[in-house]
Amino acid sequence: MKKKSSSTKDVLLEHSRAKVELLKTYLSTYLNIISRVDYYEGIYIYDLFCGEGKYDDDNEGSPLVILRTIKSHYFSNKNSCPDIDVILNDNGNSDIEVDKLKIERVKSLSEEIFTPNNVNIHFSNENYLNIGPLVLKNIKNYKRHKHLIFIDPHGYKEISINQITALLSLGNAEVILFLPLFDMYRFARKSYDKEFKGGNALRSFLHDSFDGKEKKFNSIFDFTNKLKEAFIIKTKCFVDTFLLEKEKSNYYGLFFFTPNALGFEKMLEAKWKIDTEQGRGFSKRIESQKSLFESNVEISKYPYDLDKFLQEGNKTNGDIYMFGLKKGYLPRHTKEVLKPFRDIGRLQVLNENGKKVPGNGYYLKYENYKNPPKKKVFYLLNQ
Ligand SMILES: C[S@@+](CC[C@H](N)C(=O)[O-])C[C@H]1O[C@@H](n2cnc3c(N)ncnc32)[C@H](O)[C@@H]1O
Repeated sequence: MKKKSSSTKDVLLEHSRAKVELLKTYLSTYLNIISRVDYYEGIYIYDLFCGEGKYDDDNEGSPLVILRTIKSHYFSNKNSCPDIDVILNDNGNSDIEVDKLKIERVKSLSEEIFTPNNVNIHFSNENYLNIGPLVLKNIKNYKRHKHLIFIDPHGYKEISINQITALLSLGNAEVILFLPLFDMYRFARKSYDKEFKGGNALRSFLHDSFDGKEKKFNSIFDFTNKLKEAFIIKTKCFVDTFLLEKEKSNYYGLFFFTPNALGFEKMLEAKWKIDTEQGRGFSKRIESQKSLFESNVEISKYPYDLDKFLQEGNKTNGDIYMFGLKKGYLPRHTKEVLKPFRDIGRLQVLNENGKKVPGNGYYLKYENYKNPPKKKVFYLLNQ
């Protein structure tokens, strides 16, 4: 039975569309990469809070976007794709078809999408608290599979960074986590007060994230950065963020965790496709897309930061590749900054024998980073 009137739960709001777009862009690159690595025996993709499938405004949510991305990978790769298991889970009742579970709706909608024979879809309506341990078991059992885990809850009360750390600990998983950052930031300070009963979930989340230390946050951006730094320490992975502005100053954030530098680069690429100005976030207020992070300043700070880094001396292409990624910039941005330095003779790119590298090569690709002995070159700044 269909509900009579629409509410905000029945439509996919703009910031959620941007979130799903990011997932799609990343997944499509992910499939291209993994399908070319023989080592992996298959892929598990988990959407653990998968939602309605399709909304009243006809926009598709994460589970259908995942299935469509697999389908287009298959048809763009001569009707082939890796063996994939897709685990779709949600324990809620549909807000659109009131007599159905969300997962039942997702199941019938997914039957309308072509699925290759070697792709299996599993549907469940488990509580996340129960399914989390099962995912961990699966990751341990299938070490030669890659596991991509999308965690998109309404809030954060079921989310534990220690559990995410466990999921990542075997090195064969990546996690995309969506959090209501603004609400968390707003109540962070209050949640440290034990009298504030409504703050238990947040207190415990912050406690785990910052190893019991009470932190102060002076803005949503500061809060996001501190969480990111804490997540890097906890998980020992590369961690990246993407902010999505729902309405003025109400931010949600995607945290992306990967043990792999190439995955990190590819998520950055996906972000730069959505935010072509800064690669950092989405705002539906078009004019504010530019000023979302007060950071036109920060953008212009990258050349300065890179210059300072090079001045420390003895930097290789691998060091510079990683420095750029960690600052949120792709190798192409780094080249843009370095080219003028090189053109005026301020920067030299030298091979291991101290000879100038001919041509315009910068050797800033992932392959150069991964195999430093083969393609190691040094960057020297003339003062
Ligand atoms: C933000 S929505 C997910 C949206 C979805 N990713 C999409 O793109 O359409 C969060 C979902 O989590 C489900 N949910 C909430 N608590 C849950 C729990 N403890 N276990 C499993 N699902 C839960 C809700 O029913 C809701 O559909």
